[in-house]
Amino acid sequence: MPDSDFIQQDFQRRLRNIPPLGMGLSVDVYSPDLFELVNMLREQGVQPSYLEVFKATTTALTTVRQALPDIPLAYHGEGLWITQPDVQASPLFYQDVGETVTQLNRIQSLWLNHECATKQMAGYSFGTYVPPLYTRLSAEVVAANIMTVQQMMDRQGRRADGAAPLFLLEMPPLTYFSAGTIPVPHFFRLITALAPCGLVLDIGHLWTVYRYTGACRRLSLERFVEEFLGEFPLERVVEIHIAGLACHESIGESTGAAELPEWIDAHAAPIPSILFRVLEQVLAHQNLVSLRAVALEVDTKPIEMIVEEYAEAVRRFSPLIQQTMARGAAVEQSMELLSDQASVQEPVRQSDRQQLRDDYARYAQIISGQAAMTGPEWHDTAAEPAGITRYRTFYVPHEILNWGGDLAAMFPQTCRTLAERGISLTEFVTFWFRSPRPLTHSYDFFLLKIERFLEFVTERASDAQVCAQQEGDILRQAYAQANEVVEPVMEMERTG
Ligand SMILES: [Fe+2]
Repeated sequence: MPDSDFIQQDFQRRLRNIPPLGMGLSVDVYSPDLFELVNMLREQGVQPSYLEVFKATTTALTTVRQALPDIPLAYHGEGLWITQPDVQASPLFYQDVGETVTQLNRIQSLWLNHECATKQMAGYSFGTYVPPLYTRLSAEVVAANIMTVQQMMDRQGRRADGAAPLFLLEMPPLTYFSAGTIPVPHFFRLITALAPCGLVLDIGHLWTVYRYTGACRRLSLERFVEEFLGEFPLERVVEIHIAGLACHESIGESTGAAELPEWIDAHAAPIPSILFRVLEQVLAHQNLVSLRAVALEVDTKPIEMIVEEYAEAVRRFSPLIQQTMARGAAVEQSMELLSDQASVQEPVRQSDRQQLRDDYARYAQIISGQAAMTGPEWHDTAAEPAGITRYRTFYVPHEILNWGGDLAAMFPQTCRTLAERGISLTEFVTFWFRSPRPLTHSYDFFLLKIERFLEFVTERASDAQVCAQQEGDILRQAYAQANEVVEPVMEMERTG
């Protein structure tokens, strides 16, 4: 049997362990309060068929499992940077996968969904997801990293029904730009030919691909979606996400009347009606044969808006989703599975990983504005540089200075002292990206921000160091109290 058939069979075998779920929500435990949200939905008679829960503390996730015994749960992971060629060289990666498996087991999750994106590359850190380089080699590396995670889940992750969670790879959003040498849907087709993973198709992310790859200048949205779905491995899509889009606060609404808005992924914002039209188009596609679930992704959104949007979406889409899932079930039943062996993949050569690591170092330098756009993967981006310019000029400084902790609020006295000396905080952005740093901890943007700011103050205004240290200590203590310390120990392998 050719390898790709073998991999497809492996996927099919794993898919059989996931029942059709229908419509649900992708949520955060804390924001908004999950129990308040579920109560409100129950009062309105629209309890979700399942919940996909974002990574939280293990204690919080255990509480969710116990408090909602009648709702199937799935897991939205974070912090496994599977796009990165050097991730498997770090013990932190195995520690992070171990923690993920512990959490999957605690909630008896059906799958591990993870964005095909990163917040750290080649020693540079970002606050929000950066999409992969869309190249052939990059796709091979993603597939190899997925296989490693899937194998760890196979060994250590077991539900009561004996099945291991399935790795689902989510196509990430674009934030004003994209870089690479192959089209986005082709990239995902290469991955699914090499790894037995499922996929999450996020309708809002798909819109950003239309908006920021130049497709919106050539095609209508409907035509673009049709072409995209013709190439994307839709037969691997297990879950669909739909969420809000909005203009970023650092940029605002000002666009020319003829232009599409410069929306980016924004879970707190209302879901634009245009995305529901795209959802209809996707659900009607004949290749969508593995669908199990559709979630409104609603973390950080006001509860009233969630309930209203969800009730309306159930009314409008439930029958269509049931139809789509039934069509898939018929196709599955007609399929004979020949093998029950797990797939293995050729390892990616060390020299190729090193090459890609160099490409990602350049990627980080380019998008943070330190280096000019050179290399074939930047050819199209450089030809239309408005998007990348926005990212470098507005988005990145906002991320370092304001997002995930506003520096002026975190270090009020130190920032006043710096201002008196004429030291602008924008110099901190340059400092942040000046050189790569070896990673010594699992990713935590808030703690990293504190650490880097203390280094910056030590270098630029050493007499403010004591004050900065005191302010940093208060922040760290409050943060530690808010988060339990999660034991990075894997759960014992189940036997028998
Ligand atoms: Fe999503």
